[in-house]
Amino acid sequence: MQPRGISCLVAEILLLLELIGLTQCGELRMCLFIERSFSLHKTHTLKDMENIFQLVRNVIPPLTGKRHKGQDGRIGIVGGCQEYTGAPYFAAITALKVGADLSHVFCTKDAATVIKSYSPELIVHPVLDSPNAVHEVEKWLPRLHSVVIGPGLGRDETLLENAKGIIEKSKMKGIPIIIDADGLWLISQQPSLIQGYQRAILTPNYMEFSRLYEAMLRDPVDSSDHHGCVLRLSQAMGNLTVVQKGERDLISDGEKVVVCGHEGSGRRCGGQGDLLAGSLGVLAHWAFLAGAERTNGQNPFLVAAFGACSLTRQCNSQAFQKLGRSMTASDMVAEVGAAFGKLFET
Ligand SMILES: *[C@@H]1O[C@H](CO)[C@@H](O)[C@H](O)[C@H]1NC(C)=O
Repeated sequence: MQPRGISCLVAEILLLLELIGLTQCGELRMCLFIERSFSLHKTHTLKDMENIFQLVRNVIPPLTGKRHKGQDGRIGIVGGCQEYTGAPYFAAITALKVGADLSHVFCTKDAATVIKSYSPELIVHPVLDSPNAVHEVEKWLPRLHSVVIGPGLGRDETLLENAKGIIEKSKMKGIPIIIDADGLWLISQQPSLIQGYQRAILTPNYMEFSRLYEAMLRDPVDSSDHHGCVLRLSQAMGNLTVVQKGERDLISDGEKVVVCGHEGSGRRCGGQGDLLAGSLGVLAHWAFLAGAERTNGQNPFLVAAFGACSLTRQCNSQAFQKLGRSMTASDMVAEVGAAFGKLFET
């Protein structure tokens, strides 16, 4: 039996024990283990599992009256075009509900009015298809703490070219960049655009992951070793953080693999990935700002990614408990506050 099989088995046994009431360790359900490398394949103890939640809590800025607007995060979402207006909305509103002060959406002209009409809380810039789009977004970059590239971006050549320019400018400013959806399509065409930029987090679903993996490693994904594949993709990209979304989310920074199997439900609704990307925009900023001292030497982006994955799954679980199969992404957004409180403010 492979080492991976053993650590999974241990987690499954713990889960079973808990289900039949033999243990009372809530966070064991999350079936999380950190692995230093595959040859070591350590299954970590409950202490480690509690620790990573504690590390997330450590980077969350306290709510005090002394802070001024903008300190908790101004997040930019790059995406939104004629066909897709829901994705950037979900990402931006989630960022606000997680605790960002301001969410900016940079989208095409015809998407802007639509997105504004969903929510008066968002700042919407109709610039993404303008001839000087990159410059228009660049003007805002000094005021942004992180950017999320891709929700509702689509594959229009001009928009992808503009997204590319925005990624380059954001790198020059050193701000954390989250890349999702069609932003990942762009990266699979031109990996060098983000390769080696360790302040980037990629959030591929399985399809997007396979495309990236094949582009980088010139090999199909090894379906018997998902952990190894996520680790190798992160390394091939120069150790930036990779979050493979799935039944369990696998997160790697090229050194470790962290598994987030927090509860969730069998129901995955469209837009869930946008909630993840939006919350990651905020958490990446907080974790980056807090630095490795507050994360106990762990990579802050790994901690941020774990936080965002567990939060999204908690929203899914809560919405599912209320609504069952009729739940949608909007119902998950409505759970962000309670889910955040439950996971990180207890
Ligand atoms: C990525 O991390 C691995 C494991 O820690 C290390 O061996 C490698 O040198 C790192 N690569 C880069 C480009 O930092």
